[in-house]
Amino acid sequence: MFGNVKIAPSILSADFMQMARDIQMIADAGADWIHVDVMDGHFVPNLTMGVPFVKDLNRIAPLPVDVHLMIDNPLRELPWFIEAGAYSITVHYEAFEHPETEISQAMNMIHDAGIKAALSLKPDTPVDDIASYLPQVDMVLMMSVYPGFSGQSYIPESGPRTQRLAQLCRQAGVAPIIQVDGGIKEATVGDTARAGADCFVMGSACFGSDDSAAAMAAVRAAATQAHVQGKEELR
Ligand code: DX5
Ligand code: ZN
Repeated sequence: MFGNVKIAPSILSADFMQMARDIQMIADAGADWIHVDVMDGHFVPNLTMGVPFVKDLNRIAPLPVDVHLMIDNPLRELPWFIEAGAYSITVHYEAFEHPETEISQAMNMIHDAGIKAALSLKPDTPVDDIASYLPQVDMVLMMSVYPGFSGQSYIPESGPRTQRLAQLCRQAGVAPIIQVDGGIKEATVGDTARAGADCFVMGSACFGSDDSAAAMAAVRAAATQAHVQGKEELR
């Protein structure tokens, strides 16, 4: 929350036939993390990359690998993804049948491997539902589109939702990284950044631009400026 702004390009928007080239390009262009969208065709209506891909990516990645699991049955699949390696692994609150016991198990499994653990929520999941898990997470991923596809429009309600999340974090006395994912570009990053979000996933706005470095720099600058405003509002 209100940390240094981090930009995490989502390689779902990269050219899959030129993956190594595109990853080096974003690293050279100033990205902080590499965001990997793992989709299983069940939790979301799309199928993307899986364990072998994440494993090979970790082998060549010049930046921390941030794995976003949009899959059912996360407890069953987690050991494989942990084994594949990552800097951080995010699971979805909605993917658990019994969140009250299973989320702690998932966070512990990830932490035991020395990996940062994060919890994500979809745009229609009440933010208060995850309040009790905040002390266990290193990061919260606030979805600002419905998960499944890149190139969707940012949902404006994500700003107030991030405000509420930040309030719950302050009440709990914790300060996880707040990551926002979906439709992020210079024009949309301000609302959640002002609320304290500090890590921004960029898919189409990064890889779809002729100048990815400029696109990322513009988001970073807008978010940093919004942080100043947000901190001022808290005083
Ligand atoms: C959506 C994914 C996002 C997506 C971001 O389910 O989690 O990471 O690829 O792409 P843009 O920035 O184009 O919305
Ligand atoms: Zn994602």
